[in-house]
Amino acid sequence: MSQENAVKKNTMNYNKNRPKAENPVKIEDLSLRDGHQSLFATRGRTEDMLPVAEMMDQVGFWAMEVWGGATFDTMHRFLNEDPWERIRTLKKYIKKTPFSMLLRGQNLVGYRNYADDVAKVFVERAAANGMDIFRTFDALNDYRNFEVVVPAIKAAGKHFQGCMCYTLTEPRLGGEVYNIDYYVKKAKELEAMGADTICIKDMAGLIAPYDAYDLIVALKKAVKAPIHLHSHFTSGMSALSMLKAVEAGVDIIDTVMAPYAYRTAHAAIEPMVMTLLGTNRDTGFDIKLLASINEVLEKEVMPKYKHLLDDTKISIIDINVLLHQTPGGMISNLVNQLKQMDAVDRVDEVFAELPRVRKDLGQIPLVTPTSQIVGVQTVNNVLFDTKDERYKMVTDQVKDLCYGLYGKTAVPINSEVQKKALKGYSRGEKPITARAASVLEPELEKARQATKDLAKDIDDVLVYALYPVTGMKFLKWKYGKEAPPAETKPTSMEEVRRKDELVQKAKAGLLVEKPQKKAPPMTETARKFNVFVDGEYFEVGVESLGGAPVVNTVRPMAIPMPAYAPAPQASAPVAAPVPAAAPEAPAPAAAPKAAAGDTKGAPLTAPMPGMIVKYVKNVGDKVSGGETVVVLEAMKMENALPSPVNGTVKAVNFNSGDSVKKGDVLAIVG
Ligand code: CO
Repeated sequence: MSQENAVKKNTMNYNKNRPKAENPVKIEDLSLRDGHQSLFATRGRTEDMLPVAEMMDQVGFWAMEVWGGATFDTMHRFLNEDPWERIRTLKKYIKKTPFSMLLRGQNLVGYRNYADDVAKVFVERAAANGMDIFRTFDALNDYRNFEVVVPAIKAAGKHFQGCMCYTLTEPRLGGEVYNIDYYVKKAKELEAMGADTICIKDMAGLIAPYDAYDLIVALKKAVKAPIHLHSHFTSGMSALSMLKAVEAGVDIIDTVMAPYAYRTAHAAIEPMVMTLLGTNRDTGFDIKLLASINEVLEKEVMPKYKHLLDDTKISIIDINVLLHQTPGGMISNLVNQLKQMDAVDRVDEVFAELPRVRKDLGQIPLVTPTSQIVGVQTVNNVLFDTKDERYKMVTDQVKDLCYGLYGKTAVPINSEVQKKALKGYSRGEKPITARAASVLEPELEKARQATKDLAKDIDDVLVYALYPVTGMKFLKWKYGKEAPPAETKPTSMEEVRRKDELVQKAKAGLLVEKPQKKAPPMTETARKFNVFVDGEYFEVGVESLGGAPVVNTVRPMAIPMPAYAPAPQASAPVAAPVPAAAPEAPAPAAAPKAAAGDTKGAPLTAPMPGMIVKYVKNVGDKVSGGETVVVLEAMKMENALPSPVNGTVKAVNFNSGDSVKKGDVLAIVG
């Protein structure tokens, strides 16, 4: 570590009024864009940003990312929110802190290259609506895809942040393509284009701490523009990498508020503030203010979104990123795809094929949309290629890529693969070398025509130009031509509370499973029972079916027990173990599961699917009706199942640990 870059502890004053650091690291907060995009599928609503907006404006962030990326898509498609309105609304509350957006180069905020006229107007309108910093990237790092948007950003007097998509071909930075020289060269290209800042965009969480250090030292030497590090937590390295970046002299880093942090999102701000407190890179932030923002988020906002968190995994990091240098999301897509094709056992072949396909396709970075392009083609190759023929089934997107529609790849595409892919391709068999969007026809006028009966302004036209199908639908909702579907409505805290109460009840075993089968009509011979369970009351009808002893006396059951299991303590000989809350006929004695031993007698059937914990009685044991024969576990609850009649256990059909279906005959008593 060079001495000039070292982080030095230089004050013992740790309170809010501590002296300003010599070179405070600047922080961009991503909570309101990449944070909820990463954790909650971009479903954050404007109304849920307002409770913390003014407080966040007081923190002192260099910028707040609030728009772009997938927000434009999800807002109009799923949330019935006008994307443009979000910028204007937030601007009323966040007056000091500049706004940042993620712009996908010529893809704008969509998934394909748009025509130049759309790209130019889109940037103009984003600026006019209140956007200050345009974080601009291209999936191939082909900056010809910036040639239209960058002059528009500059013309609007706004900040152009140029991104380098960070990718690897080796476990760590280096090798033939993506080494320090590559990124230094890219940074110089960005500076030549007028980049106000340069961002290392590590969307997959690949950047390792010491590589971040070396890269930032090299970039600081090579270019004048401030260096910004964006890194996802996915692999678990990002907080470490951020710290090494600070030591290397990085100017700006990205973080999120704690409730939006970690998993596939980003490092949290609070530990970073504490780490740098009292040093020459102290952020100067008031940690108590951050805590009070978190409290509002925790209590009033995040509960509405917690159902969107992927809680299927215990680990909050994805070590596949470390093993395969591929984005976490891409791997889960691959696995899903294999599952759908019933070929999940071939996942190792896919991991082996993936680097080959990526190399054939020009060693491109793996980021939306290139990660999908490479991933799907890899699966196709594994499933359909033969010994004699590779790339037997080439996707349309691979054809587009081979044609040059996405831009120039890091290394040339394998010429044989390219030739094969372009055989009979609609745009022509000879790939283009020009800027990708230069082959696209203008699109804006067509969009104006298509929306002339609905659109009130150019912003409406752009919603359609970017997303013709869902954009048109949104405009119809917006202007009352069609009713928005119920699922676009926000969740209220009241609904969240009701749902939480239900979950609590379920956990306490107080929820009764609804019977799947329709109950037969109750006859006059049915006897009614009152069943009391932990303060809840159920009225239960019990009816004897076919040949069992007649019920003579019945004692009301008043002992707490699971609602769906008959009381083992009931001394009256009831006809059959009818589950209390599921008054349906047990399997008739004529159709028991192949019973070992004597099958004559009354069957004890499973009232629900579950697992046998143990048999309390065995073949030959005498039992009286109502006495526990077997214990069944279902939904984590143990249920003691009573003998249907007085008699001797004739057969026991399962063993401890066996799984049983509803209606299986567990024992026969005769
Ligand atoms: Co990101």
